[in-house]
This record gives sequence, C-alpha cells and structure tokens, in this order.
Amino acid sequence: MLDHAAIAETLGDHYDLAPSPETAERLGPIYARMRRVVPPADWALHAPYVAAINELKAERNAVILAHNYMTPQIYHGIADVVGDSLQLAIAAAEIEADVIVQCGVHFMAETSKLLNPGKTVLIPDMGAGCSLAESITPADIAELRRRYPGAPVVTYVNTSAEVKAASDICCTSSNAAHIVAALEAETVIMAPDKYLAQNVARQVPRKTVVWHDGACIVHERFTARELQEFREWQPDTRIIAHPECPPDVIAEADFSGSTSGIIDYVSREQPGKALLVTECSMASNISDAHPAVEFVGPCNMCPHMKKITLEKVLWSLHSMQGVVEVDATLAKPARRAVERMINLSRQAQA
Ligand code: 13P
Ligand code: SF4
Repeated sequence: MLDHAAIAETLGDHYDLAPSPETAERLGPIYARMRRVVPPADWALHAPYVAAINELKAERNAVILAHNYMTPQIYHGIADVVGDSLQLAIAAAEIEADVIVQCGVHFMAETSKLLNPGKTVLIPDMGAGCSLAESITPADIAELRRRYPGAPVVTYVNTSAEVKAASDICCTSSNAAHIVAALEAETVIMAPDKYLAQNVARQVPRKTVVWHDGACIVHERFTARELQEFREWQPDTRIIAHPECPPDVIAEADFSGSTSGIIDYVSREQPGKALLVTECSMASNISDAHPAVEFVGPCNMCPHMKKITLEKVLWSLHSMQGVVEVDATLAKPARRAVERMINLSRQAQA
C-alpha cells in the first residue's frame, strides 16, 4: 500500500506543486484540450504536477502510455501515447526509451513488459487491478480444456501473464471476433469475459463459443432497461456501447466497439447527442475534440483505472518504484499468445 502522506511530503520537498495560476497559464495549450471538462480552478491544481512530470519524463528518458479510461489531466496532460488495449500493446513493443510508465491497470503494464522486456516498466499503483483478470486462474483454463478437449483457448488481454501463458492466443475487444473467426476449430473457449464471449458468439455464428464466468464490474452494471428508458426520453441520442456489456445492452446500442472504436465512431458520425455506455473518462477525454457532440447519460467509473493519479505518476517516476516484472518461465508462452494476436490483427488490416 502506498503511504500517501509520506509521498506528498517527499514530492513537496523536490517539486513546486502548490496550485499555480502562472503554471496553469503557461501550460494553456495543454489545457485547451480539456477546457470543456476541467474547470480553470482544477487546472491550477493539476498544472504544477503536469509540468513536473513532463520535465522528469525527459530526464528519465521515459514514455507514458495511457489508456483511454485515464482522467483528462493524464490523457491530455502527460501521455505520449493514448489508446485502447491493443494500440497500447503495439506501441509498447516499439518503444525505444529506457522507461515505460503505464497509466492503466496492471495487466496492461505486464503486457508492455512481455512485449518489450528490456525496458523498465512502471505502474504508478500496483493495486490497479481488473475484475476480469482477477476472475480467472491457470487452473480454470485447465478445467475448460478438460471440458472442451481440443478447443483452442482465446484469452482476453485483461488477464495475468500466467493465464496468458496457459492460453493459445489473446484477444482484445477490438479484434476478438476476428481472432475467433480466424481459428480453424469449430468450438472456441473464450475467457474470462462471458459477455464479450457472448457478443462474439453472435458476430461469428458458425462457431460454438464457450466461456468462463467473468465480467467487468464497470460494464456489467449497465442494463438494457435503462438504455430503453433513456432512448424513450431522448430519442435522438446515439447509443454507443463497449462489448464488455451484456448482450441485451449491446442489442440496444447503435454501435459497439473497443474504446478506440468508440472514438473513431464519434469522430466519423459526429452525432448531435451521444451516450457512451462505458467508463466515464471516455466522454471527458474526447469532449473538447468534438464540440458539436453533446455527451449525455449515465456512465460508470472503474475504481482500478482511477487509482492512477498525477501524484502517483510523479511519485513512480521520481522514486522509480512500481517496477513490473514477469516471471521468466511464464514470459515466453505469455508473449507468444500476445504476439499471435498482434500478428493475426495485422493480417486482418493488411
Ligand atoms: P479496450 O480499450 O481494449 O476497449 O478495453 C477496455 C477495457 O476495459 C480495458 O480495461
Ligand atoms: Fe477491468 Fe473493467 Fe476496469 Fe477495464 S474497466 S480495467 S475491464 S474492471
């Protein structure tokens, strides 16, 4: 557990982190990307951290990878690369800097380490987990293999390295249907997200997809009923849902896609009103880039993603703590499963 009081004291000794209208003003071009969602007074609080992190990042020769669910001050203020799980994994493999700071959850940092093992990979809070990753163990994979002999195991990247090592190939929400469709087997095991598996089963009806009983605590909470009620109330709203939502929720949506798929859809379609059925920061992060779009309706917060804060990023870069390692015996098979996914995704795009 991080000791916040001690961290704040140490950081205060090394950096000028007092709220500063001057620093806020100096970093105005960065603020312009989040003006619609971050009030000026809040920016005066964040700006000194953003300035300190960006300076330290250069000193440490570090690159910050940030998932689309990060807060706007991380996403727009300090990230070098932003994206969905697949985009961040591909970017991690190509990074030449000495240090990767993963602003996301632990499985993402582990994936970066798997794909670029020579780099120091930091996660600002080791406790940033994922309900999906926590729902499954290698023993569960072994049991699924016993129940469905010969069926390949496709694991979502939202898993630990040891679960990846026990699987045949990984997938993300942006390529899951393509990966399942590309496999020769008629029956495919998908783990751990039962809803992603059920949504893929609908997209690839010629396969029999079987699944583990895991779910994302953010997306399982949305209901078809709340979307129906919302549509009745605001019929001109475009409903855009992440495929970790239950199938009846997806059935109510106008579009379903990974977090980057959602961004691409909004950019392309420019709906007057959009309801993003996903984590709350998604709408915040793209709001300023799309001033003609009004983002409306409910969203759910991921408590794991929200463990990553500017203060903790500064702390990890300052102290070089939060180093992510992967056991050498697991790294090889886990990397193979992730690389197979990346290669198959590239073939699909070619
Ligand atoms: P994508 O960004 O790949 O859509 O994944 C969403 C997610 O829940 C990551 O934790
Ligand atoms: Fe895991 Fe869901 Fe949070 Fe993503 S949003 S990290 S899938 S709990």
